[in-house]
Amino acid sequence: MLEDKDRIFKNLYGFGDWRLKGAIARGAWDNTKKLIEKDREWIINEVKASGLRGRGGAGFPTGLKWSFMPKADPARPSYLVVNADESEPGTCKDREIMRNDPQLLIEGCFLACFAMQAHTCYIYIRGEFVLEGWRLEAAIAEAYAANLIGNDNIHGWPCDIYLHHGAGAYICGEETALLESLEGKKGMPRLKPPFPANMGLYGSPTTVNNVESIAVVPDILRRGAKWFSSFGAKNNSGTKIFCISGHVNRPCNVEEVMSISFRELIERHCGGVRGGFDNLLAVIPGGSSVPLVPAHEIIDAAMDFDSLRELKSGLGTAAVIVMDKSTDIVRAIARISYFYKHESCGQCTPCREGTGWLWRVVSRMAEGRAHKREIDMLLEVTTQIEGHTICALGDAAAWPVQGLIRHFRPEIERRIDQYAANPRPEPIKDLGVAAE
Ligand SMILES: Cc1cc2nc3c(=O)[nH]c(=O)nc-3n(C[C@H](O)[C@H](O)[C@H](O)COP(=O)(O)O)c2cc1C
Ligand code: SF4
Repeated sequence: MLEDKDRIFKNLYGFGDWRLKGAIARGAWDNTKKLIEKDREWIINEVKASGLRGRGGAGFPTGLKWSFMPKADPARPSYLVVNADESEPGTCKDREIMRNDPQLLIEGCFLACFAMQAHTCYIYIRGEFVLEGWRLEAAIAEAYAANLIGNDNIHGWPCDIYLHHGAGAYICGEETALLESLEGKKGMPRLKPPFPANMGLYGSPTTVNNVESIAVVPDILRRGAKWFSSFGAKNNSGTKIFCISGHVNRPCNVEEVMSISFRELIERHCGGVRGGFDNLLAVIPGGSSVPLVPAHEIIDAAMDFDSLRELKSGLGTAAVIVMDKSTDIVRAIARISYFYKHESCGQCTPCREGTGWLWRVVSRMAEGRAHKREIDMLLEVTTQIEGHTICALGDAAAWPVQGLIRHFRPEIERRIDQYAANPRPEPIKDLGVAAE
């Protein structure tokens, strides 16, 4: 269990002062100049040594990503872009950082800019985050007024930070769609390569990082890579904000050590599963994009990237969606399929056509209006989407359905048998979404 002294996000719940004065009292901006005097190599090496893996979903090592940035070139300025789009269903951590401790993010942006020789940082914030945007804007203004950032700041590294509001499309969280949107175009993912480190914003070297990945950097540099890597299992280090929702007694956001067991996380911070652990059906451990894990596999599993991958799921954004036995699991996955169908940008045929197809078939299966042979057909279609699209939204649409079939095939078959015994002519129920 994480001790209070090791917390990075000391004002996660907003009980303290979110303004600069409060943040400084909690340790932010404490001799930042000393950190940059150690030079950029030191910062990148320290972030590498800390084992920090991106908190935006994919878990890519942050220090390694930074090291891909080419040397500074006056003809092609480098950019840091912070992904504050946070639209993955179940995820609600970045918004708490931005509204309750925005200086952690701003100082992190400054240090990351220095490490990558960037003088400009854009924070791309989800359109619906009105309060968070307002707070962040005010916090940036305070940092400018205190001369902590800006052209002629006290640290000696010119650095401007701009906040940019998105319009609320999930796909704009994908890093290249985000860059398109930032450039004023339609938010549609780019083909990779070239990767943003070579050709990102305005064709210049760019690193895109999640809010949490950047906000933990000042603490890593001050307290040391060893301190950060002392939490969690090998290759899964650090502290992490978990967003726990669904059928627990007290849903919450909590910063904990990586690799904490699911049982401990839920017992300590959420007052247990509604009706007890025996009443647990399944968990989606990393936001709607990752496959569900059935109760017996997740209860004592370590909540980290590698352990959850072994269970054929993933840590994703650490948005832990808990479902007890009252859940209609097929309907729940059908609802998630609707989300991906709705959010597909439509560029790739497998995603554009496949997401709607998945939604329609899983919706029929929720009522049992299907043939058993369609289960394998559905699985086959998910494999035709997965890995065959420009961006990972295709995979994100395929995986929840694969998880459902992997673990709940008997439940789908039971419904098909039940319906076959009592077929009904009325139309398929919608899932609380607009009829298509
Ligand atoms: C469809 C889609 C949506 C995404 N949404 C987000 C998001 O809202 N926030 C985020 O940080 N990363 C999101 N990502 C991941 C980003 O593309 C990118 O990997 C991430 O911002 C990198 O930051 P990190 O290395 O610090 O994790 C999304 C990816 C996909 C495919
Ligand atoms: S996978 Fe889907 S969302 Fe991603 S680029 Fe292709 S059509 Fe657009």
